[in-house]
Amino acid sequence: MNIGTGSSERQVYIGGEFVAENEARISIFDHVVLYGDAVYDTACAWGGKVFKLDEHVDRLFESAHALKIEVPLDKAGVKAVVLEVMRRNKLEDAYIKIIVTRGVGRMPLLSPYNCKPNLIAFAIPYLSLIDSGVQQEGIRAGISSMRRIPSECLDSKIKCCNYLNHIMMRMEANEAGLDEAIELDIDGYVAEAPGYNVFIAKQGLLYTPGENILVGITRQTVMELAAAEGLETVVGRLTAFDLYNADEVFLTSTAGGIFAVREVDGRAVGPGKPGPITQTLSQKYMELLESGVQSTPVYS
Ligand SMILES: Cc1ncc(COP(=O)(O)O)c(C=O)c1O
Repeated sequence: MNIGTGSSERQVYIGGEFVAENEARISIFDHVVLYGDAVYDTACAWGGKVFKLDEHVDRLFESAHALKIEVPLDKAGVKAVVLEVMRRNKLEDAYIKIIVTRGVGRMPLLSPYNCKPNLIAFAIPYLSLIDSGVQQEGIRAGISSMRRIPSECLDSKIKCCNYLNHIMMRMEANEAGLDEAIELDIDGYVAEAPGYNVFIAKQGLLYTPGENILVGITRQTVMELAAAEGLETVVGRLTAFDLYNADEVFLTSTAGGIFAVREVDGRAVGPGKPGPITQTLSQKYMELLESGVQSTPVYS
């Protein structure tokens, strides 16, 4: 799907107002254009309800606070914008992005002071990041030759608009014929994947890394769903060996839910197809989205 349609039909929020997508303008001097200096969050809506909206808005504010970017609206205002952008585009199942750029400052260009932050929000019909066929069989992943930027350099908890490290790793994987990269941290332990958290299942337990990751909202949801199924999650360090020898490996993200990984670095994971734990958790996750229990209704 081409998301940048230049549509006059689609409404987006930018600079304090709703405008047609093809009228949305941002200054070339905005720090997001010059330096990738901005934060964002991605939420999803299912059946006209936005899943865990409070959690996404809280994380957006925490990222902004960490980078000393002042969000132009309060949390209630940002939530109202998200719901309104859904309504204006008459969406039910949607992918929603909220961005806060540092804005345009005075000279010298690299100065982060006296900038006017810009809140941007858009919603588009829900899209799957991976073809449904590939998703059903499980994806093929490879460990990247690059390392995730360590938190000592840029805190991984900040969801910022500088994703070059992740993008380079995804390109490397895709150009090697793989669906996705697995990112190791600077010490060689599994961190995450470009846009996903990583889980393994082994002998009836789940394991997921706890450091050098974006603290994913889907990761948290999966741990809660697993606990409800009597499945404990151990948060700690994992190595490539643990991935190769797991019973199951899967990735989690808001934009996509749960993806089974069937192969890592040319080694089949378990029997080389989505396993029972991944399938159960995927099903429970979809049921939770559809139930609307932890969601905010758009249309009431
Ligand atoms: C680097 C990174 N890790 C993990 C995730 C998954 O987070 P969530 O489940 O909140 O979407 C994302 C989501 O965009 C991400 O960008």
